[in-house]
Amino acid sequence: MSNVVVVGTQWGDEGKGKVVDLLTAKADLVVRFQGGNNAGHTLVVNGEQTICHLIPSGILHDDKKCLIGNGLVVDPEVLLEEMDNLTQRGIVINPERLSLSEKAHIIMPYHKALDLAREVAKGKDKIGTTGRGIGPCYEDKVGRTGIRAIDLLETETLREKIKTNLKEKNFYLTKFLDAEPLEFQPIFDQYQSMAETLRPYVTDVSIEIDQAIRSGKKVLFEGAQGTHLDIDHGTYPFVTSSNPVSGGVCAGAGVGPGKLHHINGIVKAYTTRVGSGPFPTELLDETGDYIQERGAEFGATTGRRRRCGWLDLVMVRDSVRFNGLSSLSITKLDVLTGLENLKICTGYECEGERIGSRPTSLNKLAQCTPVYEELPGWKEDITAARQMDQLPTETRNYLTRIEEITEVPLSIVSVGPMREETIVLKDPFTPPPL
Ligand code: IMP
Repeated sequence: MSNVVVVGTQWGDEGKGKVVDLLTAKADLVVRFQGGNNAGHTLVVNGEQTICHLIPSGILHDDKKCLIGNGLVVDPEVLLEEMDNLTQRGIVINPERLSLSEKAHIIMPYHKALDLAREVAKGKDKIGTTGRGIGPCYEDKVGRTGIRAIDLLETETLREKIKTNLKEKNFYLTKFLDAEPLEFQPIFDQYQSMAETLRPYVTDVSIEIDQAIRSGKKVLFEGAQGTHLDIDHGTYPFVTSSNPVSGGVCAGAGVGPGKLHHINGIVKAYTTRVGSGPFPTELLDETGDYIQERGAEFGATTGRRRRCGWLDLVMVRDSVRFNGLSSLSITKLDVLTGLENLKICTGYECEGERIGSRPTSLNKLAQCTPVYEELPGWKEDITAARQMDQLPTETRNYLTRIEEITEVPLSIVSVGPMREETIVLKDPFTPPPL
């Protein structure tokens, strides 16, 4: 009995994909529970690259089942495109391999139009969204006007819902946002046709997961984005519209908390952020450029350059609390190779006071300056290390400080982009001895 959750502890892009890929080998089911096609991971299939935004990378292993939980907002056009791309590369896609929750909400063209028009209207105050309609779709979910996967399959319900929603959205688009209105018929025709292709994949994902767990299968819950983009606990309003924290699994996949046995938090060895919002340890100098270039820090979804900075353990410690982390995976450690000295942020100094967690007020956060601990860097190439004792002393010290300050043990350390460039200290799927 062993189910594992993987979550990001920073602002997304922590390198979850590689850890998920490693852990997928041990799992039977891989489940996404929140977000949408604002996430993205690059897959190499038979030598060719493809980017998946919705389908977990587990789809590349033919003995794994991939599930898209109710907590997601799904753009059916994107999902079908990913299914097509994978099929063309020789991956078998059928309902035995992939399920879509009937309760997942569907991204409509008006969600994308609203996302884009609102960002334009906000000007310099924009959130920097991915423009995929994520926020507006979640708004409709909470506002109880959303269209779910199940509604796609019921033609009359779909017709009525699109008609009613379009009236309001077109009013808002044209009268408030100065944008173009959308027409009913092309949307209805396109969504009805997509619904027919998706019909066999639409199921009750909660029941599927429950049956799998009862029959002794192992489930991996794959988080998207990161804890500090969480709608409740992140740097609001510069956040996404879902709950990337581990608690999101329960609501977003229909699974009770007692079924989650190990929560692994992914910590990139430094911090990045894409889009707007506060970033206390941001480096606007050549060290930031060095990390950005060595880490190839460009967004997989939008191609935007990511902002880079020192490792902020105030954020990570907050993440330990929000997620109840059992262990940490450290990623992209090799990116720091070659830096003379490294800094770890261990607290914030705010209005003459030392604080150990991020203040909720963004005004107060803007007054905070990071308190750093400086550690010597290392020059040696670390990508060949497969055990801790093969790492330079300085690298081991950096890792030890992360463990000491967060008070969470490390389970995986990634020293390079390749699957084998990894040190596994503890397998998250192995339960602790009784
Ligand atoms: P949205 O999720 O498209 O609404 O964007 C809201 C904020 O979350 C923006 O700052 C995005 O850049 C950020 N964001 C959304 N998805 C990701 C992700 O997968 N990685 C990093 N940032 C993300």
